[in-house]
Amino acid sequence: MVMLDRDFASTLHQRRQNLKQQIEFPAILWSGCARSRNFPANKFPFRASSHFLYFAGLPLENAAIRLQEGKLTLYWDNPAPESTLWHGQQGDRDEIAAQIGADAAYPLTELCDRPQDAATIALPDPITYQQQINILNRPLPLPQHSQGQDLALIKAIISLRLTHDRSALSELQKAANVAVEAHKTGMTTARKAKTEAEVRGAMEGVIIAQNMTCSYNSIVTIQGEVLHNEHYHNPLQPGDLILADVGAETSLGWASDITRTFPVTGKFSPTQREIYNLVLAAQDRCIDRLAPGVEYRDIHLLAALTITEGLVDLGILRGNPAELVDRDAHALFFPHGIGHLLGLDVHDMEDLGDLAGYAEGRQRSDRFGLGYLRLDRPLRSGMLVTIEPGFYQVPALLQNPEMRAKYKDAVNWERLEQFADVRGIRIEDDVLVTESGSEVLTEKLPKCAENIEELVMRNW
Ligand code: GLY
Ligand code: MN
Ligand code: MN
Repeated sequence: MVMLDRDFASTLHQRRQNLKQQIEFPAILWSGCARSRNFPANKFPFRASSHFLYFAGLPLENAAIRLQEGKLTLYWDNPAPESTLWHGQQGDRDEIAAQIGADAAYPLTELCDRPQDAATIALPDPITYQQQINILNRPLPLPQHSQGQDLALIKAIISLRLTHDRSALSELQKAANVAVEAHKTGMTTARKAKTEAEVRGAMEGVIIAQNMTCSYNSIVTIQGEVLHNEHYHNPLQPGDLILADVGAETSLGWASDITRTFPVTGKFSPTQREIYNLVLAAQDRCIDRLAPGVEYRDIHLLAALTITEGLVDLGILRGNPAELVDRDAHALFFPHGIGHLLGLDVHDMEDLGDLAGYAEGRQRSDRFGLGYLRLDRPLRSGMLVTIEPGFYQVPALLQNPEMRAKYKDAVNWERLEQFADVRGIRIEDDVLVTESGSEVLTEKLPKCAENIEELVMRNW
């Protein structure tokens, strides 16, 4: 199955003790099950629920754990004897229980006997969701609408998962390292590739060859202005920039999330270089500012201000940069938030709505320039966040008559036309908040324009 560190079971034990400090009632967490494609045994890849993974450690399918007073009981059925024909010899329940340091282990059917008053978190897969309702014998709202003990459990788990222990950081660094190699390969492949798909294939090949998976659907596109573009058919032409947003996930489920933007030919045009350096300046300034106690929202606003100052200097925006940010003019070109939590998931814990991303009592702004901010908390040592400023020319925003009217005086539209070869640029790194500031887990991947050019040209 998966290689485990020697201190794996003790890490899981410590996480259970930490949960015990926060809740006095039992909790049951389900792992979920894989969805089938055209016939039952032909499945989409299974991904265990991250809340389950955090405490149980291993991606067991169709399993549940009961957590009570620091003890873990595993509920999982031994593989059926006939399944060895198709799947080979697999670990049985007692072996798995020993690996994860479970205090007891039973078949899944026995879970029905002990649901009393247990809190849980609803899973998105419909089969498991129905099992949860049947076993708990009560309605189960979506996590973001939870109440009572379910909500208390969610808050307790958030408080644990917001910062990472040593074992998690070791996995996160592995995921970061593999994504760094994937991005280097993407850059060195670009000049000989004919399509986006070839670059994607080369990048994902590095991840797969390390027995990892992608932590989200890769974005590898010359249409960088399409924020979550998942098409890979475009041919690569001289003058194109490739925006590659590709991350790796370790076999235990820990994620990385990196974006680089590089020229297909290995040479940025003067206009592309101007905007690239501006996005990079915003990212550098934000990373320099990260430290415990700093508000992540202020990091977002710092990126907005830096991009706006740069666009004023380039003559694309007109006016006082701070006033332009107050008017959300930056969001015409930088419409998303500066980043998010990263951990067992990319956009970590967003299955809980904004309960993890937003501090208690805070809500999403309805401002154009703040509404897509996914994290609004004071930073703490041990948090892992992405810092991912960008510049995009999104036709749906820039051609929108209301937007054009609203920002008539703020944008020099003629000057903007001179930057038509800059469709979308994003630079994204994974940054750990530390006691003294921050540490970039993905720092081994070049990001200054000259180093990117050198990598794309390498071996050519
Ligand atoms: N990869 C998705 C994101 O950067 O948020
Ligand atoms: Mn991201
Ligand atoms: Mn990303």
